[in-house]
Amino acid sequence: MDKPTRVLFVCLGNICRSPTAEGIFRALVSRRGLKHQFEIDSCGVGDWHIGRAPDNRAIMAARRHDIDLSGLRARQIVPEDLQNFDRVLVMDSQNLSDVMDLWRVHGGTRPELFLDYAPSAGVREVPDPYYGGDDGFERVIELIYEASQGLLADLTGTKV
Ligand code: 4NP
Repeated sequence: MDKPTRVLFVCLGNICRSPTAEGIFRALVSRRGLKHQFEIDSCGVGDWHIGRAPDNRAIMAARRHDIDLSGLRARQIVPEDLQNFDRVLVMDSQNLSDVMDLWRVHGGTRPELFLDYAPSAGVREVPDPYYGGDDGFERVIELIYEASQGLLADLTGTKV
């Protein structure tokens, strides 16, 4: 059997956007019966929330879409991630700049803006919902859902 494709989602804290991306992308992969073809993870650039579950507002927003994030735990990116993952998808341009700093030193997989897989979204960054209200979390889900479909189509060479 072919080696699984390893996909890593990165945001700042690994408690809002990237765990949401991990959960949504996992659900899409699972629904299409492709679970064995992928390994999916997420992490943060920062270290403040290491070991914590996702933000409760992210868990509740995902739950409204039948996605369970409650078992996920935050971790910080390490240089080996760029060697170990085939795709590294970041949520905003600050994440991109931070992970590019690692990439310049350590090489490996070059990070990409996740929303480049959602060209019709009209924005290139998933806005940080941490300091906003619940509608910010719903918007995160909408953007991530669209980019997840685009990414999966790209990785499988199909239209989803
Ligand atoms: P995330 O959101 O990067 O989507 O997980 C944030 C979570 C925590 C903080 C910032 C953004 N923080 O400053 O603690």
